[in-house]
Amino acid sequence: MKQKWGFDTLAVHAAQHPDAHTGAISQPVIPAVAYAFPDVETAADVVSGDKEGTYYGRYGNPTTRTLEQKVAELEGGEDSIGLSSGMAAISSALLAFLQHGDHVIVTKDVYGGTYNFITQLAPRFGIEAHFVDCTDPVKIRAAIKPNTKALYVETPSNPKLTVLDLRMIAAVAKEHRIPLIVDNTFMTPYLQRPLELGADVVVHSATKYMNGHGDVLAGFVVGSKDVVSFIRKRIAGDLGQNLNAWESFLILRGLKTMGLRVRAHCENAMKVAAFLQGHPLVKCVYYPGLPTHPQHELAKRQMRGMGGIVSFEIIGGLEAGRRFINGLRLAMISFSLGDPETLVQHPATMTHFSIPCEERQQFGISDGLIRLSVGLEDVSDIIADLDQALSLCSDVRRKFG
Ligand SMILES: Cc1ncc(COP(=O)(O)O)c(C=O)c1O
Repeated sequence: MKQKWGFDTLAVHAAQHPDAHTGAISQPVIPAVAYAFPDVETAADVVSGDKEGTYYGRYGNPTTRTLEQKVAELEGGEDSIGLSSGMAAISSALLAFLQHGDHVIVTKDVYGGTYNFITQLAPRFGIEAHFVDCTDPVKIRAAIKPNTKALYVETPSNPKLTVLDLRMIAAVAKEHRIPLIVDNTFMTPYLQRPLELGADVVVHSATKYMNGHGDVLAGFVVGSKDVVSFIRKRIAGDLGQNLNAWESFLILRGLKTMGLRVRAHCENAMKVAAFLQGHPLVKCVYYPGLPTHPQHELAKRQMRGMGGIVSFEIIGGLEAGRRFINGLRLAMISFSLGDPETLVQHPATMTHFSIPCEERQQFGISDGLIRLSVGLEDVSDIIADLDQALSLCSDVRRKFG
């Protein structure tokens, strides 16, 4: 009987075996686009899906296939597909369930790119959306319409770290036979496994913690074999959103240390959040690991750790926020997250700039909100950097009291 491995063991070994010809332990990179078949019948069987295999680079790749099998195992899904970015994964997953005339419910603070897709591109194809506060089951139920064909959430959310109760949302979705799609980017399968909590599909930006080194753009959709195969054949393949072999190799390498890295991100983030909470220039800190976070108890039940993202409001709004960010010496101003480096960004002018100001305010994205992706440096160095940058804003405090 196969022993049930722990997560770190699976992250190293799942789906991977030494190469049959060379004994190489690391995954061979196979960049081939074209594949030869012994006869027409075999070619037809592979194309139809009756036989496992690769036939053309846009519909799959052997290096990527190993990675897809590993990601499916880590998330506890039947299958997964690797795509060229997190947004390719999000748009494909939504398009797998939505067509002209359909309606989708989306949690109210989502990643800016997801917001753009839902509000700009999807309506051009007759898809209607409502942004709903998904912390409240009454509001979700009230938003469901006869043509609602998907429920899409992100937890913890970007950038406010709102934690949603996935079991509760999955139960509401099941009552109404609506598929639930969860963006698990901030957590990785190491910290949260939405499929076990009742979700139907998980999407990832693997650009972040899964690869973890800031050198690959990639995304995954994890779910049933049918959903994944539909996306491969009918959406991603036809739109040309495939993930290439080299980037798959890099993610396979990154995944081997994901547990180690994510544990260190969580540990550093908790210390940074505690430091910020005690600072007189900080109005409030959003981090699920803090007992003051509104969903702290839920986060402890649902998540194995609290993640590496800490958001906070600085006293003095835009002016103080700008001065603080420009004063950082170690942390780098960047749009990404989940890298070894501590990265800082200002959602109102950077990642969530495309959301109109009024709606940003409704989503709670104020001008003084700052998002930190806490890195893997010595936490004492990260905190010293934040401290010296905050000290540059002390006259703003005198002004704003
Ligand atoms: C939560 C979340 N989902 C999806 C994405 C999009 O990922 P990508 O940039 O790989 O398309 C991001 C990017 O920052 C994100 O933060």
